[in-house]
Amino acid sequence: IVIVLDFGGQYNQLITRRIRELNVYSELLPFSTTAEELKKYNLKGIVFSGGPNSVYGEGAPKVDPALFELGVPILGICYGMQLMAHHFEAKVERAAVREYGKSMIDVATDGVLFHEQPQKQQVWMSHSDKVVSVPNGFRIDATTETCPVAAMSDAARKLYAVQYHLEVNHSEFGQDQLRRFLYNVCEVSGDWTSASFVEMAIAKIKEQVGDKKVLCALSGGVDSSVAAVLVHRAIGNNLTCMFVDHGLLRKDEAEQVMEMFAGEFQMNVVKIDARERFLNRLAGVSDPERKRKIIGEEFIRVFEEESKSLGHFDFLAQGTLYTDIIESGTATAATIKSHHNVGGLPEDMQFQLTEPLKELFKDEVRAAGSEMGIKDEIVWRQPFPGPGLAIRIIGDVTAEKLEILRDADWVVRDEIKRSGLDREIWQYFAVLPDIKSVGVMGDERTYAYTIGIRAVTSRDGMTADWARIPYDVLERLSTRLVNEVGDINRVVLDITSKPPATIEWE
Ligand code: XMP
Repeated sequence: IVIVLDFGGQYNQLITRRIRELNVYSELLPFSTTAEELKKYNLKGIVFSGGPNSVYGEGAPKVDPALFELGVPILGICYGMQLMAHHFEAKVERAAVREYGKSMIDVATDGVLFHEQPQKQQVWMSHSDKVVSVPNGFRIDATTETCPVAAMSDAARKLYAVQYHLEVNHSEFGQDQLRRFLYNVCEVSGDWTSASFVEMAIAKIKEQVGDKKVLCALSGGVDSSVAAVLVHRAIGNNLTCMFVDHGLLRKDEAEQVMEMFAGEFQMNVVKIDARERFLNRLAGVSDPERKRKIIGEEFIRVFEEESKSLGHFDFLAQGTLYTDIIESGTATAATIKSHHNVGGLPEDMQFQLTEPLKELFKDEVRAAGSEMGIKDEIVWRQPFPGPGLAIRIIGDVTAEKLEILRDADWVVRDEIKRSGLDREIWQYFAVLPDIKSVGVMGDERTYAYTIGIRAVTSRDGMTADWARIPYDVLERLSTRLVNEVGDINRVVLDITSKPPATIEWE
Protein backbone atom coordinates (compact mmCIF):
# COMPACT_ATOMS: atom_id res chain seq x y z
CA ILE A 1 0.00 0.00 0.00
CA VAL A 2 0.99 3.60 -0.58
CA ILE A 3 -0.48 6.00 1.97
CA VAL A 4 -1.34 9.57 1.05
CA LEU A 5 -1.35 11.89 4.05
CA ASP A 6 -4.05 14.51 3.78
CA PHE A 7 -3.17 18.15 4.38
CA GLY A 8 -6.48 19.42 3.03
CA GLY A 9 -5.90 20.06 -0.69
CA GLN A 10 -8.84 19.63 -3.08
CA TYR A 11 -6.89 17.13 -5.20
CA ASN A 12 -5.82 14.78 -2.44
CA GLN A 13 -8.03 11.82 -3.18
CA LEU A 14 -7.12 12.31 -6.81
CA ILE A 15 -3.57 11.38 -5.83
CA THR A 16 -4.73 8.04 -4.36
CA ARG A 17 -6.79 7.45 -7.44
CA ARG A 18 -3.85 8.14 -9.78
CA ILE A 19 -1.84 5.67 -7.73
CA ARG A 20 -4.58 3.06 -8.07
CA GLU A 21 -4.64 3.72 -11.82
CA LEU A 22 -1.03 2.54 -11.77
CA ASN A 23 -2.24 -0.74 -10.20
CA VAL A 24 -1.09 0.07 -6.68
CA TYR A 25 -3.52 0.20 -3.79
CA SER A 26 -3.64 3.56 -2.03
CA GLU A 27 -5.61 5.21 0.76
CA LEU A 28 -5.87 8.73 2.10
CA LEU A 29 -5.23 9.12 5.85
CA PRO A 30 -5.18 12.22 8.09
CA PHE A 31 -1.85 14.08 8.21
CA SER A 32 -1.65 13.34 11.93
CA THR A 33 -1.27 9.57 11.35
CA THR A 34 1.82 8.43 13.24
CA ALA A 35 4.68 6.20 12.11
CA GLU A 36 3.53 3.69 14.74
CA GLU A 37 0.01 3.56 13.20
CA LEU A 38 1.48 3.04 9.74
CA LYS A 39 3.35 -0.03 10.91
CA LYS A 40 0.25 -2.19 10.57
CA TYR A 41 0.30 -1.65 6.79
CA ASN A 42 2.51 -3.33 4.25
CA LEU A 43 3.77 0.15 3.52
CA LYS A 44 5.67 0.74 0.29
CA GLY A 45 5.60 4.52 0.16
CA ILE A 46 4.11 7.72 1.60
CA VAL A 47 2.87 10.81 -0.21
CA PHE A 48 2.43 14.16 1.53
CA SER A 49 -0.41 15.94 -0.22
CA GLY A 50 -1.03 19.59 -0.97
CA GLY A 51 -2.97 21.83 1.39
CA PRO A 52 -4.03 25.41 2.01
CA ASN A 53 -1.66 26.24 4.88
CA SER A 54 1.73 27.89 5.16
CA VAL A 55 4.37 25.75 6.87
CA TYR A 56 5.41 28.64 9.07
CA GLY A 57 1.81 29.73 9.74
CA GLU A 58 0.17 29.25 13.09
CA GLY A 59 -1.42 25.81 13.50
CA ALA A 60 0.21 24.58 10.29
CA PRO A 61 -0.27 20.82 10.06
CA LYS A 62 2.96 18.91 10.71
CA VAL A 63 3.80 15.23 10.37
CA ASP A 64 5.16 12.81 12.93
CA PRO A 65 8.96 13.30 12.54
CA ALA A 66 9.40 9.53 12.97
CA LEU A 67 7.96 9.08 9.46
CA PHE A 68 11.30 10.23 8.07
CA GLU A 69 13.03 7.48 10.04
CA LEU A 70 10.96 4.62 8.61
CA GLY A 71 13.20 4.28 5.57
CA VAL A 72 10.05 4.24 3.41
CA PRO A 73 10.17 6.45 0.28
CA ILE A 74 8.30 9.74 0.61
CA LEU A 75 6.94 11.99 -2.13
CA GLY A 76 5.96 15.53 -1.13
CA ILE A 77 3.54 17.44 -3.37
CA CYS A 78 3.07 21.24 -3.09
CA TYR A 79 2.48 21.85 0.64
CA GLY A 80 4.04 18.40 1.12
CA MET A 81 7.26 19.60 -0.49
CA GLN A 82 7.34 22.77 1.61
CA LEU A 83 6.76 20.66 4.69
CA MET A 84 9.64 18.37 3.78
CA ALA A 85 11.93 21.35 3.13
CA HIS A 86 10.87 22.97 6.39
CA HIS A 87 11.43 19.74 8.32
CA PHE A 88 15.02 19.56 7.05
CA GLU A 89 15.53 23.23 7.86
CA ALA A 90 15.63 24.63 4.34
CA LYS A 91 14.13 28.00 3.59
CA VAL A 92 10.46 28.35 2.65
CA GLU A 93 9.06 31.80 2.04
CA ARG A 94 6.08 33.64 0.63
CA ALA A 95 6.50 34.03 -3.14
CA ALA A 96 6.36 37.54 -4.56
CA VAL A 97 4.18 36.23 -7.37
CA ARG A 98 1.55 33.68 -6.55
CA GLU A 99 1.87 30.94 -9.14
CA TYR A 100 -1.47 29.57 -10.23
CA GLY A 101 -2.34 27.55 -13.33
CA LYS A 102 -0.21 26.25 -16.15
CA SER A 103 3.51 26.77 -15.86
CA MET A 104 6.62 25.52 -17.70
CA ILE A 105 9.29 23.72 -15.75
CA ASP A 106 12.86 23.06 -16.71
CA VAL A 107 13.88 19.61 -15.53
CA ALA A 108 17.19 17.83 -14.95
CA THR A 109 16.48 14.75 -17.04
CA ASP A 110 18.88 12.61 -15.04
CA GLY A 111 16.54 12.99 -12.03
CA VAL A 112 14.97 9.67 -11.02
CA LEU A 113 11.42 10.90 -11.69
CA PHE A 114 12.31 12.65 -14.95
CA HIS A 115 14.22 10.07 -17.03
CA GLU A 116 13.41 10.05 -20.73
CA GLN A 117 11.12 13.05 -20.45
CA PRO A 118 11.47 16.36 -22.28
CA GLN A 119 13.52 19.00 -20.57
CA LYS A 120 10.71 21.53 -20.79
CA GLN A 121 7.31 20.40 -19.56
CA GLN A 122 3.99 21.92 -18.72
CA VAL A 123 2.81 21.50 -15.12
CA TRP A 124 -0.06 22.73 -12.97
CA MET A 125 0.96 25.07 -10.17
CA SER A 126 -1.13 26.38 -7.32
CA HIS A 127 0.94 27.87 -4.54
CA SER A 128 1.78 31.09 -2.76
CA ASP A 129 4.80 29.85 -0.75
CA LYS A 130 7.99 28.53 -2.28
CA VAL A 131 11.09 26.63 -1.28
CA VAL A 132 14.09 28.88 -1.98
CA SER A 133 16.97 26.61 -0.98
CA VAL A 134 17.16 22.84 -0.73
CA PRO A 135 18.02 21.01 2.49
CA ASN A 136 21.41 19.32 2.93
CA GLY A 137 21.70 16.18 0.86
CA PHE A 138 19.01 17.28 -1.61
CA ARG A 139 19.44 18.29 -5.25
CA ILE A 140 17.28 20.49 -7.41
CA ASP A 141 15.43 18.50 -10.09
CA ALA A 142 13.35 21.24 -11.67
CA THR A 143 12.90 25.00 -11.73
CA THR A 144 10.52 27.53 -13.25
CA GLU A 145 11.16 31.19 -14.02
CA THR A 146 9.81 32.29 -10.66
CA CYS A 147 10.34 29.16 -8.61
CA PRO A 148 13.97 28.20 -7.91
CA VAL A 149 12.98 24.77 -6.59
CA ALA A 150 10.08 23.21 -8.54
CA ALA A 151 11.26 19.68 -7.72
CA MET A 152 13.96 18.29 -5.42
CA SER A 153 15.19 14.93 -4.24
CA ASP A 154 17.53 13.07 -1.95
CA ALA A 155 17.88 9.69 -3.65
CA ALA A 156 19.95 8.24 -0.80
CA ARG A 157 17.13 8.79 1.69
CA LYS A 158 14.44 8.10 -0.97
CA LEU A 159 12.88 11.52 -0.48
CA TYR A 160 11.27 13.22 -3.49
CA ALA A 161 9.25 16.38 -3.79
CA VAL A 162 7.52 18.51 -6.41
CA GLN A 163 6.04 21.97 -6.03
CA TYR A 164 3.44 21.44 -8.76
CA HIS A 165 0.45 19.11 -8.78
CA LEU A 166 1.63 16.08 -10.71
CA GLU A 167 -1.72 14.38 -10.08
CA VAL A 168 -3.62 16.86 -12.27
CA ASN A 169 -4.03 16.14 -16.01
CA HIS A 170 -2.53 19.51 -16.91
CA SER A 171 0.83 18.28 -15.64
CA GLU A 172 1.86 16.58 -18.88
CA PHE A 173 4.28 14.03 -17.44
CA GLY A 174 2.87 13.90 -13.92
CA GLN A 175 1.55 10.38 -14.23
CA ASP A 176 4.91 9.17 -15.58
CA GLN A 177 6.68 10.82 -12.64
CA LEU A 178 4.30 9.15 -10.22
CA ARG A 179 4.85 5.82 -11.98
CA ARG A 180 8.60 6.23 -11.64
CA PHE A 181 8.23 7.05 -7.94
CA LEU A 182 6.09 3.95 -7.38
CA TYR A 183 7.93 1.45 -9.54
CA ASN A 184 11.55 2.68 -9.41
CA VAL A 185 11.68 4.11 -5.90
CA CYS A 186 8.99 2.29 -3.88
CA GLU A 187 9.49 -0.90 -5.91
CA VAL A 188 5.83 -1.86 -5.82
CA SER A 189 4.59 -5.06 -7.46
CA GLY A 190 1.65 -3.36 -9.23
CA ASP A 191 -1.00 -6.07 -9.06
CA TRP A 192 -3.92 -3.98 -7.83
CA THR A 193 -7.04 -4.09 -10.09
CA SER A 194 -10.77 -3.42 -9.92
CA ALA A 195 -11.23 -7.15 -9.30
CA SER A 196 -9.17 -6.70 -6.14
CA PHE A 197 -11.36 -3.76 -5.19
CA VAL A 198 -14.54 -5.80 -5.57
CA GLU A 199 -13.08 -8.62 -3.51
CA MET A 200 -11.85 -6.28 -0.80
CA ALA A 201 -15.09 -4.29 -0.71
CA ILE A 202 -17.15 -7.46 -0.29
CA ALA A 203 -14.88 -8.65 2.51
CA LYS A 204 -15.10 -5.26 4.23
CA ILE A 205 -18.90 -5.23 4.02
CA LYS A 206 -19.08 -8.75 5.46
CA GLU A 207 -16.83 -7.71 8.30
CA GLN A 208 -18.69 -4.49 9.04
CA VAL A 209 -22.21 -5.85 8.73
CA GLY A 210 -21.93 -9.50 9.77
CA ASP A 211 -25.38 -11.10 9.78
CA LYS A 212 -27.22 -7.83 10.46
CA LYS A 213 -29.89 -6.48 8.13
CA VAL A 214 -29.14 -3.75 5.63
CA LEU A 215 -31.46 -1.36 3.89
CA CYS A 216 -30.15 0.15 0.69
CA ALA A 217 -31.09 3.52 -0.70
CA LEU A 218 -31.41 2.55 -4.34
CA SER A 219 -31.78 5.40 -6.81
CA GLY A 220 -31.04 3.59 -10.06
CA GLY A 221 -27.96 5.71 -10.67
CA VAL A 222 -24.55 4.18 -11.20
CA ASP A 223 -23.37 4.70 -7.63
CA SER A 224 -26.25 3.27 -5.68
CA SER A 225 -26.62 0.43 -8.19
CA VAL A 226 -23.00 -0.64 -7.82
CA ALA A 227 -23.20 -0.22 -4.03
CA ALA A 228 -26.38 -2.31 -3.88
CA VAL A 229 -24.95 -5.09 -6.03
CA LEU A 230 -21.77 -5.14 -3.91
CA VAL A 231 -23.79 -5.39 -0.70
CA HIS A 232 -26.04 -8.01 -2.29
CA ARG A 233 -22.96 -10.03 -3.22
CA ALA A 234 -21.68 -9.75 0.35
CA ILE A 235 -24.83 -10.53 2.33
CA GLY A 236 -27.46 -11.78 -0.13
CA ASN A 237 -31.02 -11.62 1.15
CA ASN A 238 -30.12 -9.72 4.30
CA LEU A 239 -30.24 -6.74 1.96
CA THR A 240 -33.51 -4.99 1.20
CA CYS A 241 -33.45 -2.16 -1.31
CA MET A 242 -35.86 0.69 -0.97
CA PHE A 243 -36.47 2.82 -3.98
CA VAL A 244 -38.04 6.16 -3.11
CA ASP A 245 -39.77 7.92 -5.94
CA HIS A 246 -39.42 11.52 -4.78
CA GLY A 247 -40.92 12.87 -7.98
CA LEU A 248 -37.64 14.55 -8.91
CA LEU A 249 -36.53 11.78 -11.26
CA ARG A 250 -36.05 11.76 -15.00
CA LYS A 251 -38.77 10.57 -17.36
CA ASP A 252 -39.68 6.85 -16.99
CA GLU A 253 -36.85 6.34 -14.53
CA ALA A 254 -38.91 4.82 -11.73
CA GLU A 255 -40.26 2.10 -14.02
CA GLN A 256 -36.81 1.30 -15.40
CA VAL A 257 -35.28 0.92 -11.96
CA MET A 258 -37.93 -1.54 -10.82
CA GLU A 259 -37.58 -3.57 -13.99
CA MET A 260 -33.84 -3.73 -13.69
CA PHE A 261 -33.29 -4.59 -10.03
CA ALA A 262 -36.42 -6.43 -8.97
CA GLY A 263 -36.76 -8.08 -12.35
CA GLU A 264 -33.39 -8.79 -13.82
CA PHE A 265 -31.18 -8.84 -10.71
CA GLN A 266 -33.82 -10.60 -8.58
CA MET A 267 -33.05 -8.30 -5.68
CA ASN A 268 -35.49 -7.50 -2.94
CA VAL A 269 -36.73 -4.00 -3.94
CA VAL A 270 -39.59 -2.06 -2.36
CA LYS A 271 -40.86 1.03 -4.15
CA ILE A 272 -42.25 3.98 -2.15
CA ASP A 273 -44.27 6.70 -3.81
CA ALA A 274 -43.30 9.88 -1.94
CA ARG A 275 -43.84 12.37 -4.72
CA GLU A 276 -46.39 14.48 -2.93
CA ARG A 277 -44.46 14.50 0.31
CA PHE A 278 -41.34 15.97 -1.27
CA LEU A 279 -43.26 18.55 -3.27
CA ASN A 280 -44.99 19.75 -0.14
CA ARG A 281 -41.74 20.11 1.78
CA LEU A 282 -40.09 21.93 -1.10
CA ALA A 283 -42.96 24.36 -1.66
CA GLY A 284 -41.71 27.94 -1.75
CA VAL A 285 -38.05 27.00 -1.09
CA SER A 286 -35.55 28.68 -3.46
CA ASP A 287 -32.26 28.49 -1.59
CA PRO A 288 -30.09 25.72 -3.12
CA GLU A 289 -28.55 24.59 0.16
CA ARG A 290 -31.97 24.48 1.84
CA LYS A 291 -33.34 22.39 -1.01
CA ARG A 292 -30.46 19.94 -0.66
CA LYS A 293 -30.84 19.71 3.12
CA ILE A 294 -34.60 19.23 2.92
CA ILE A 295 -34.34 16.50 0.31
CA GLY A 296 -31.54 14.69 2.14
CA GLU A 297 -33.42 14.83 5.40
CA GLU A 298 -36.75 13.85 3.92
CA PHE A 299 -35.09 10.89 2.25
CA ILE A 300 -33.84 9.53 5.53
CA ARG A 301 -37.21 10.17 7.22
CA VAL A 302 -38.98 8.22 4.50
CA PHE A 303 -36.51 5.38 4.96
CA GLU A 304 -36.91 5.40 8.70
CA GLU A 305 -40.69 5.39 8.55
CA GLU A 306 -41.14 2.94 5.71
CA SER A 307 -38.47 0.55 6.87
CA LYS A 308 -40.31 0.00 10.15
CA SER A 309 -42.99 -1.89 8.30
CA LEU A 310 -40.30 -4.07 6.74
CA GLY A 311 -38.73 -5.21 10.00
CA HIS A 312 -35.58 -4.12 11.76
CA PHE A 313 -32.51 -2.79 9.95
CA ASP A 314 -29.18 -1.87 11.49
CA PHE A 315 -27.43 -0.42 8.48
CA LEU A 316 -28.17 1.90 5.62
CA ALA A 317 -26.09 1.30 2.49
CA GLN A 318 -25.35 4.31 0.32
CA GLY A 319 -23.45 4.82 -2.91
CA THR A 320 -21.57 7.85 -1.60
CA LEU A 321 -18.51 8.62 -3.72
CA TYR A 322 -15.37 10.38 -2.77
CA THR A 323 -16.33 13.47 -4.79
CA ASP A 324 -19.52 13.75 -2.74
CA ILE A 325 -17.46 13.81 0.42
CA ILE A 326 -14.73 16.21 -0.62
CA GLU A 327 -17.18 18.77 -2.00
CA SER A 328 -19.29 18.67 1.14
CA GLY A 329 -16.18 19.67 3.11
CA THR A 330 -13.88 17.48 5.19
CA ALA A 331 -12.03 18.52 8.33
CA THR A 332 -9.38 20.19 6.18
CA ALA A 333 -11.12 21.08 2.88
CA ALA A 334 -13.63 23.92 2.31
CA THR A 335 -17.34 23.32 1.58
CA ILE A 336 -18.39 23.87 -2.02
CA LYS A 337 -21.92 22.46 -1.82
CA SER A 338 -23.48 19.84 0.39
CA HIS A 339 -24.22 16.70 -1.57
CA HIS A 340 -27.49 15.25 -0.45
CA ASN A 341 -26.17 11.93 0.77
CA VAL A 342 -23.53 13.53 2.97
CA GLY A 343 -24.36 16.97 4.34
CA GLY A 344 -28.09 16.38 4.42
CA LEU A 345 -28.07 13.59 6.97
CA PRO A 346 -30.01 14.46 10.10
CA GLU A 347 -28.09 14.13 13.35
CA ASP A 348 -30.56 11.81 15.06
CA MET A 349 -30.44 9.17 12.33
CA GLN A 350 -31.30 5.67 13.47
CA PHE A 351 -29.05 3.74 11.08
CA GLN A 352 -25.36 3.07 10.91
CA LEU A 353 -23.94 3.69 7.46
CA THR A 354 -22.16 1.39 5.09
CA GLU A 355 -20.65 3.24 2.13
CA PRO A 356 -18.51 0.84 0.11
CA LEU A 357 -17.66 3.35 -2.62
CA LYS A 358 -16.65 6.30 -0.53
CA GLU A 359 -13.00 6.18 -1.53
CA LEU A 360 -13.67 5.87 -5.24
CA PHE A 361 -14.19 8.15 -8.19
CA LYS A 362 -16.92 7.66 -10.74
CA ASP A 363 -14.86 5.88 -13.37
CA GLU A 364 -13.51 3.49 -10.75
CA VAL A 365 -17.10 2.74 -9.71
CA ARG A 366 -17.93 2.04 -13.35
CA ALA A 367 -14.98 -0.32 -13.61
CA ALA A 368 -16.08 -2.13 -10.44
CA GLY A 369 -19.64 -2.34 -11.80
CA SER A 370 -18.50 -3.87 -15.09
CA GLU A 371 -16.27 -6.22 -13.14
CA MET A 372 -19.37 -7.56 -11.36
CA GLY A 373 -21.18 -8.00 -14.65
CA ILE A 374 -23.56 -5.05 -14.38
CA LYS A 375 -24.80 -4.04 -17.82
CA ASP A 376 -23.39 -1.04 -19.67
CA GLU A 377 -26.82 0.49 -19.70
CA ILE A 378 -26.52 1.07 -15.94
CA VAL A 379 -22.77 1.38 -15.61
CA TRP A 380 -22.62 4.10 -18.27
CA ARG A 381 -25.65 6.00 -17.08
CA GLN A 382 -24.71 9.62 -16.81
CA PRO A 383 -24.40 10.83 -13.22
CA PHE A 384 -27.61 12.21 -11.76
CA PRO A 385 -27.61 14.08 -8.45
CA GLY A 386 -29.49 12.69 -5.46
CA PRO A 387 -31.68 15.81 -5.16
CA GLY A 388 -32.60 15.24 -8.79
CA LEU A 389 -34.41 17.78 -10.91
CA ALA A 390 -35.00 19.99 -7.85
CA ILE A 391 -31.50 21.45 -8.11
CA ARG A 392 -31.87 22.03 -11.84
CA ILE A 393 -34.89 24.24 -11.28
CA ILE A 394 -33.62 27.61 -10.16
CA GLY A 395 -36.02 29.12 -7.66
CA ASP A 396 -38.90 27.25 -6.10
CA VAL A 397 -39.93 23.79 -7.28
CA THR A 398 -43.47 23.23 -8.52
CA ALA A 399 -45.21 20.34 -10.23
CA GLU A 400 -45.56 22.48 -13.37
CA LYS A 401 -41.84 23.33 -13.56
CA LEU A 402 -40.95 19.70 -12.89
CA GLU A 403 -43.01 18.62 -15.84
CA ILE A 404 -41.38 21.18 -18.14
CA LEU A 405 -37.90 20.23 -17.02
CA ARG A 406 -38.55 16.50 -17.20
CA ASP A 407 -39.70 16.83 -20.81
CA ALA A 408 -36.78 19.12 -21.68
CA ASP A 409 -34.30 16.74 -20.06
CA TRP A 410 -35.72 13.89 -22.09
CA VAL A 411 -35.28 15.83 -25.34
CA VAL A 412 -31.67 16.70 -24.47
CA ARG A 413 -30.83 13.09 -23.63
CA ASP A 414 -32.59 11.74 -26.69
CA GLU A 415 -30.90 14.16 -29.09
CA ILE A 416 -27.42 13.65 -27.63
CA LYS A 417 -27.86 9.91 -27.82
CA ARG A 418 -29.09 10.05 -31.41
CA SER A 419 -26.07 12.13 -32.31
CA GLY A 420 -23.81 9.45 -30.87
CA LEU A 421 -22.26 11.87 -28.39
CA ASP A 422 -23.52 10.16 -25.25
CA ARG A 423 -20.28 8.39 -24.33
CA GLU A 424 -17.92 11.28 -24.87
CA ILE A 425 -20.01 13.81 -22.98
CA TRP A 426 -19.88 13.18 -19.24
CA GLN A 427 -23.17 14.87 -18.41
CA TYR A 428 -25.76 16.57 -20.57
CA PHE A 429 -29.00 17.94 -19.25
CA ALA A 430 -31.47 20.77 -19.20
CA VAL A 431 -31.72 23.46 -16.55
CA LEU A 432 -34.79 25.58 -15.89
CA PRO A 433 -33.77 29.06 -14.73
CA ASP A 434 -36.32 31.24 -13.01
CA ILE A 435 -36.70 33.43 -16.09
CA LYS A 436 -39.51 34.18 -18.47
CA SER A 437 -38.88 36.19 -21.58
CA VAL A 438 -40.74 37.45 -24.60
CA GLY A 439 -40.91 35.55 -27.86
CA VAL A 440 -43.02 35.33 -30.95
CA MET A 441 -44.64 32.17 -32.27
CA GLY A 442 -47.09 32.08 -35.15
CA ASP A 443 -47.53 35.88 -35.09
CA GLU A 444 -48.40 35.74 -31.41
CA ARG A 445 -46.43 37.21 -28.55
CA THR A 446 -45.30 34.59 -26.04
CA TYR A 447 -44.02 35.00 -22.54
CA ALA A 448 -42.44 31.73 -21.52
CA TYR A 449 -39.56 29.92 -19.83
CA THR A 450 -35.96 29.59 -20.96
CA ILE A 451 -34.13 26.25 -21.02
CA GLY A 452 -30.41 26.16 -20.36
CA ILE A 453 -28.42 23.33 -21.91
CA ARG A 454 -25.57 22.11 -19.73
CA ALA A 455 -23.17 19.60 -21.23
CA VAL A 456 -19.70 18.90 -19.90
CA THR A 457 -16.79 16.57 -20.49
CA SER A 458 -14.97 15.30 -17.44
CA ARG A 459 -13.01 12.35 -16.12
CA ASP A 460 -14.32 12.33 -12.61
CA GLY A 461 -16.64 15.29 -12.02
CA MET A 462 -14.00 17.16 -9.99
CA THR A 463 -13.08 19.36 -12.93
CA ALA A 464 -15.02 19.69 -16.17
CA ASP A 465 -14.99 21.48 -19.48
CA TRP A 466 -18.06 22.56 -21.44
CA ALA A 467 -18.71 20.12 -24.27
CA ARG A 468 -18.18 21.38 -27.82
CA ILE A 469 -21.47 20.15 -29.23
CA PRO A 470 -21.60 20.58 -33.03
CA TYR A 471 -23.80 23.44 -34.28
CA ASP A 472 -26.17 21.17 -36.15
CA VAL A 473 -26.88 19.17 -32.98
CA LEU A 474 -27.40 22.41 -31.07
CA GLU A 475 -29.75 23.59 -33.75
CA ARG A 476 -31.84 20.42 -33.51
CA LEU A 477 -31.83 20.70 -29.73
CA SER A 478 -33.05 24.27 -29.86
CA THR A 479 -35.84 23.49 -32.32
CA ARG A 480 -36.98 20.37 -30.53
CA LEU A 481 -36.95 21.97 -27.08
CA VAL A 482 -39.18 24.83 -28.19
CA ASN A 483 -41.48 22.60 -30.24
CA GLU A 484 -41.77 19.56 -28.00
CA VAL A 485 -41.74 21.08 -24.54
CA GLY A 486 -44.61 23.21 -23.28
CA ASP A 487 -44.09 26.83 -22.16
CA ILE A 488 -40.56 27.25 -23.59
CA ASN A 489 -39.64 29.99 -26.07
CA ARG A 490 -35.88 30.35 -25.63
CA VAL A 491 -32.85 28.06 -25.37
CA VAL A 492 -29.39 29.04 -24.10
CA LEU A 493 -26.10 27.16 -23.80
CA ASP A 494 -23.89 27.15 -20.70
CA ILE A 495 -20.24 27.62 -21.73
CA THR A 496 -18.46 27.66 -18.37
CA SER A 497 -16.04 25.02 -17.20
CA LYS A 498 -15.59 23.76 -13.63
CA PRO A 499 -13.97 25.62 -11.97
CA PRO A 500 -15.09 28.40 -11.86
CA ALA A 501 -18.66 27.06 -12.27
CA THR A 502 -19.88 23.72 -10.93
CA ILE A 503 -21.50 21.14 -13.18
CA GLU A 504 -24.95 21.51 -11.64
CA TRP A 505 -26.39 24.99 -11.33
CA GLU A 506 -27.20 24.57 -7.64
P1 XMP B 1 -21.01 19.72 -9.20
O1 XMP B 1 -22.30 20.38 -9.54
O2 XMP B 1 -20.68 19.82 -7.75
O3 XMP B 1 -21.23 18.18 -9.49
O4 XMP B 1 -19.88 20.16 -10.08
C1 XMP B 1 -20.24 17.20 -9.49
C2 XMP B 1 -20.91 15.89 -9.81
O5 XMP B 1 -21.71 15.45 -8.70
C3 XMP B 1 -23.08 15.35 -9.08
N1 XMP B 1 -23.86 15.85 -7.94
C4 XMP B 1 -24.43 15.08 -6.99
N2 XMP B 1 -24.49 13.75 -6.85
N3 XMP B 1 -25.75 14.01 -4.86
C5 XMP B 1 -25.17 13.22 -5.79
O6 XMP B 1 -25.26 12.00 -5.65
C6 XMP B 1 -25.75 15.35 -4.94
O7 XMP B 1 -26.28 16.04 -4.09
C7 XMP B 1 -25.05 15.91 -6.06
N4 XMP B 1 -24.82 17.19 -6.47
C8 XMP B 1 -24.09 17.12 -7.62
C9 XMP B 1 -23.22 16.18 -10.32
O8 XMP B 1 -24.32 15.76 -11.12
C10 XMP B 1 -21.87 15.96 -10.97
O9 XMP B 1 -21.81 14.74 -11.64
